Amino acid sequence: MSDKKNVFTEMDGKFSGNEVFQNEGRDYQNPEEFKKLVHARRSVRKFTAEKIPDHIVNDCLDTALLAPNSSNLQTWEFYRVTSTDARAKLVEACFSQGAAASASELIVCVARRDTWRKNSKRMLAEFKKLPVDPPKVVQDYYGKLVPFVYTVGWFNILTPLKWILNTVVGIFKVVPRDPISSFGINVWAVKSCALACENLMLAFRSYGYDTCPMEGFDSWRAKKAIGLKGCAEIVMVIGAGKRAEGGVYGPRMRFPNEQFIKTV
Ligand SMILES: Cc1cc2nc3c(=O)[nH]c(=O)nc-3n(C[C@H](O)[C@H](O)[C@H](O)COP(=O)(O)O)c2cc1C
Repeated sequence: MSDKKNVFTEMDGKFSGNEVFQNEGRDYQNPEEFKKLVHARRSVRKFTAEKIPDHIVNDCLDTALLAPNSSNLQTWEFYRVTSTDARAKLVEACFSQGAAASASELIVCVARRDTWRKNSKRMLAEFKKLPVDPPKVVQDYYGKLVPFVYTVGWFNILTPLKWILNTVVGIFKVVPRDPISSFGINVWAVKSCALACENLMLAFRSYGYDTCPMEGFDSWRAKKAIGLKGCAEIVMVIGAGKRAEGGVYGPRMRFPNEQFIKTV
């Protein structure tokens, strides 16, 4: 292992003595079941009228929130659309596609590039509740590094400065080159939200329900339908429900693995 010191290496071993979370999930393995679940998920465009019980929807949403996410800043939101009016507007914003119109549940999955500051303070507060004292590196991470990396200033005023700094310093050492603009921070937040979306869809499937992720929507109208304002970015709308006859539009098609899986 490299002997270079930085915020990531400083964390090594800081919590190694704590049995409670060191053993979380350690003994779990079930590749066959996992593969079955992944294979069982298909994008379904036609659902029956059967409702998904509330406790299942809530459980699936809870599972979504367990997705890994950048710096654990949880810059996401999930809107379960239950109002008839909002739903009708959202379906229209989704080009009235069958996957939205027939779904018994519509969940709007949102990336919030604007919540990292509030959430980094909350992370510090959460660390303070642990049975062990948060190491100084954690305080520096959320208190100093996160604000330094994610602050881009009004109208991205700091972006050129950050680019120059990263480019010059980056000649000599490893630097965090992205994100340096609000666009980059949006991409950053979207990545984590998309992982939660996958958790959500697999969770529904594990209960015998199906989903369709949709980015076929008019983002302005979709945001308006659920009262979302500002820089909140809808990553996808997920329709969920009981698969109807003919709900899967075709066989699963993927290009040969060799095209995508590379060894370097
Ligand atoms: C980000 C994203 C957006 C998608 N948008 C739509 C959509 O608007 N409408 C739709 O019918 N399917 C949509 N899909 C589903 C894809 O078409 C589907 O995942 C792909 O064809 C592979 O099929 P499978 O999910 O059954 O494996 C979307 C999937 C993703 C991941």
